[in-house]
Amino acid sequence: VNLTFVSAEGRRTELSVPAGTSIMQAAVQNGVAGIIGECGGSAMCATCHVHIDPDFADRLPPMQDMEEAMLDCAAAPIDARSRLGCQIELEPDLDGLVVHLPETQQ
Ligand code: FES
Repeated sequence: VNLTFVSAEGRRTELSVPAGTSIMQAAVQNGVAGIIGECGGSAMCATCHVHIDPDFADRLPPMQDMEEAMLDCAAAPIDARSRLGCQIELEPDLDGLVVHLPETQQ
């Protein structure tokens, strides 16, 4: 599954990862700065906060209560495109996903 991370400064990183990898794992495993993933993916830390490109909004899995509650703890301001990167698995349907990184995670 191909995806592109866009840093807060506008730097683009293009990756290809196996299906089933979460957005958080894709960043951490490939050394993409801007995502920490402190809790290891259990929706408990909000250091994997990302903004999903609106073109993909209707293909994302729905937000669970825990994710929604945790997003309120994100360090950077959240908006309608905000999600926790560990709660979104990259499936073929999301191929080409563009993920914008917030300025800070802590
Ligand atoms: Fe901690 Fe996503 S990695 S909430």
